[in-house]
Amino acid sequence: MELRIRRLLTMFVMLALFFVALGCEKMDRSLQPEGKPVQNTSFLQDEEATSKEEKIKIGFSMDTLEEERWLRDRALFKAAVESLGAEVEILAANGDDALQVLQAETLISQGVDLLVVVPHNAEAAATIVKKAHLAGIKVLSYDRLIKNAEIDLYVSFDNERVGELQAEAITKIVPKGKYVYIGGADTDNNAHLFKKGVFHVLQPLIDKGDITVVYDQWTKNWLPSNAYANMQEALIANEGKIDAVIAANDATAGMAIEALMETGLAGKIPVAGQDAELAAAQRIVEGTQTMTVYKPIPTLAEEAARLAVAMARGEFIDTDRKVNNGKVEVPSVLLPPIAVNRSNMDETVIADGFHSKVDVYKGETR
Ligand code: BGC
Repeated sequence: MELRIRRLLTMFVMLALFFVALGCEKMDRSLQPEGKPVQNTSFLQDEEATSKEEKIKIGFSMDTLEEERWLRDRALFKAAVESLGAEVEILAANGDDALQVLQAETLISQGVDLLVVVPHNAEAAATIVKKAHLAGIKVLSYDRLIKNAEIDLYVSFDNERVGELQAEAITKIVPKGKYVYIGGADTDNNAHLFKKGVFHVLQPLIDKGDITVVYDQWTKNWLPSNAYANMQEALIANEGKIDAVIAANDATAGMAIEALMETGLAGKIPVAGQDAELAAAQRIVEGTQTMTVYKPIPTLAEEAARLAVAMARGEFIDTDRKVNNGKVEVPSVLLPPIAVNRSNMDETVIADGFHSKVDVYKGETR
């Protein structure tokens, strides 16, 4: 008898607890916004998560941070993307193709909304584009063109014009004579464009017999040490009888000048470079380098960031130019480069704040 009463009491208590629990759950649901299943997190936390999800995320896959300019590109691109209310994840591959593909895969798997790529190797980077597209991610080729791939946008400078500016400046000083061309990395499409621009200007003079190109080599991986070896080779092969040097960038020009110094030719024959690196600007005012080509990196970084974020937001991008990359006509934005020598140093790179006057003249401001 006592046992039956205890069992009945237990059943009664359990039933009561069940109905209390049911009531609580109903009350909870009536406090929730419609259609939003809430577990342990509060309503406010959920809203925060949603707005975070909506923030556009750009992936920036860089080849290298070797030359001075790339550090600028990285900092300016990041600042520009963030000022547009988006975020960016940046990885640099140290000149390694396989690593660049791996890093791009990491960015893709992180769910970036758009991928911006400075390819180490114009052809090998096509793999990155395929992988990004499979994941529904568009690709912007930054500064260097990715070849034979369906890239969505290309933002750079007019790189053929860079080479023309170099050759125009040097042929003005040396209209006749023996020229050395120290090219960039064969794997970089820009190196081909720079060279094309140079030879566009030189060819008529070569045809006339006024100019002879006595040495013409690529610089593997853009390595300054390779440029130094190339310049030494050129000097030996021509017994020092060289009248002008055009180098594909300032880093290679710097090492070509090192080699010229060893034979007493630095400052005696004109040398062209490109990038307006600080060391090159200093050499120009000192007289061992004749000119450089200034490419305003802030404009490139800001333009690329603006277009990347707009494209990630699904906006239509309209460009005036198209560049064929071997597979498609790529919508392109090509910014104008500027020739810089000693006489316009102040009104170009210094006036723009690209370098300070104190730095360029090493404190000896005139
Ligand atoms: C860039 C140059 C740079 C070179 C080496 C080229 O693609 O346009 O500005 O000096 O790569 O990094």
